[in-house]
Amino acid sequence: MIGPEPGNVPLAVYVHIPWCVHKCPYCDFNSHALKTTLPEKGYVRALLEDLDEQKALAAGRKIGSIFIGGGTPSLFSGEAIDALLTGIRGELDFAQDIEITLEANPGAVDADHFASYRAAGVNRLSIGVQSFNAEHLRALGRIHDPAQVLHAYIIARAAGFENINLDLMFGLPGQHPDQALDDLQQAVDLAPQHLSWYQLTIEPNTLFITNRLPRRMKNISGKYSKKGRDFCGKWAMLNMRCPRMRRRVAIVSTTSTIGRLAIIWLSVPGHMPR
Ligand SMILES: C[S@@+](CC[C@H](N)C(=O)[O-])C[C@H]1O[C@@H](n2cnc3c(N)ncnc32)[C@H](O)[C@@H]1O
Ligand code: SF4
Repeated sequence: MIGPEPGNVPLAVYVHIPWCVHKCPYCDFNSHALKTTLPEKGYVRALLEDLDEQKALAAGRKIGSIFIGGGTPSLFSGEAIDALLTGIRGELDFAQDIEITLEANPGAVDADHFASYRAAGVNRLSIGVQSFNAEHLRALGRIHDPAQVLHAYIIARAAGFENINLDLMFGLPGQHPDQALDDLQQAVDLAPQHLSWYQLTIEPNTLFITNRLPRRMKNISGKYSKKGRDFCGKWAMLNMRCPRMRRRVAIVSTTSTIGRLAIIWLSVPGHMPR
């Protein structure tokens, strides 16, 4: 089959919001603990000025997706996200079925924010769950507990988000593979449209390196990946304790390795992210 001309393939826009409540000890993303008031107005203005200078590169092309990632974009107010998307819409040509995702940290969410993101045009949320186990969340230095994860999911659905991704990590300090699978099961039970399951990578220049994480953490991926793939296979065979998912029929599971980072993606049909 011949695909569309390269010039007709919709473009994806990534917007980075680099602030977080605090810096997690495993994180090597461009993210920084917020030390002053969030400079959201000035930052949105700067992003739009930047876009104005670059927009000629996207001339004649549709925008198929926008991903607002971080950092912790859910720290931003609805007004700021609305100003951002209105500004981008004024400069670029959105595809009719554009997917607009915003990343949310369960420790920095708010029902009114979620409702106004939805009203501003965000139609997909990616929630950074990482684990449902309180001890493992503490070991990761996360700012939230398992109850806040459930709260974030509930207010996201209540705000009208029908397309939700959950991020999980495995290979956590002190985590047994069965506990990682239990995290997966709990995530599946929530019936998200997509799940990303990342192997925790110990990155240089993070506190997990300087604080000397146990060596045994470095060679566990095989064990997890095998068990995880088996788990995904079971999920695909609709063999799980989750009636809501079971009704959705075919589940896609993909395993890939990007550098040292093993990722397994699970998605209900039609909801692989763009
Ligand atoms: C761009 S990050 C930011 C998400 C958001 N700030 C949060 O932490 O809730 C997206 C996802 O990458 C994964 N991730 C971040 N650091 C990682 C690491 N060192 N190893 C594996 N996965 C990682 C986490 O699952 C995270 O939710
Ligand atoms: S909240 Fe996300 S982006 Fe921010 S420091 Fe933690 S892992 Fe990194």
